[in-house]
Amino acid sequence: MTRRAFYIGAALAVGLAVVAWRYLLAPPEPQEVPRPAIGGPFTLVDHNGKTVSEADFRGQFMLVYFGYTFCPDVCPTALTIIADAMNLLGGRGDGVVPVFITVDPERDTPEQLRMYVSHFHPRLVGLTGTPEQVTAAAKAYRVYYAKVPIEDGDPDDYAMDHSSVIYLMGPDGKYLDSFGTGATPEKIAARLREFL
Ligand code: NI
Repeated sequence: MTRRAFYIGAALAVGLAVVAWRYLLAPPEPQEVPRPAIGGPFTLVDHNGKTVSEADFRGQFMLVYFGYTFCPDVCPTALTIIADAMNLLGGRGDGVVPVFITVDPERDTPEQLRMYVSHFHPRLVGLTGTPEQVTAAAKAYRVYYAKVPIEDGDPDDYAMDHSSVIYLMGPDGKYLDSFGTGATPEKIAARLREFL
């Protein structure tokens, strides 16, 4: 075998190996874009003081929003949008549970949440828990929050900085969609009707 024949042979072998890897051995392209890993197991306490987990919501769609009851504007706005979306759905929304999870468990006791959620919608569920339980739930939903002292205010007074996203979760507990600032009740209700 000449040196030249050897090199040609080697080049062909490498080429074949590349083709084999690309078309025969490489894993197939996924057929469906995987859904983001948002949500998952949580254990919290509802506004009646009952311990609940994500399993208690199986079989129902959830509209999940994280915030806190002392929030001056962002949370009330988001919860009003959720309540309006629920009202737009009417009876078709029976399989949808709107859920408000506090990021301020220190002040948002079940009693505080019970009063607060009733201002927005009769079916709105308020959830709180230990700081650890709330941290775990926020982490599962990739929600950011942080305590911010109020300047020149009472040293015990503080605000909570937090991300403002409405999550739509399916009856299997898996993430379906999310709505950011500026989402309208009409848009959320329309998206839900696609599933209901
Ligand atoms: Ni807020």
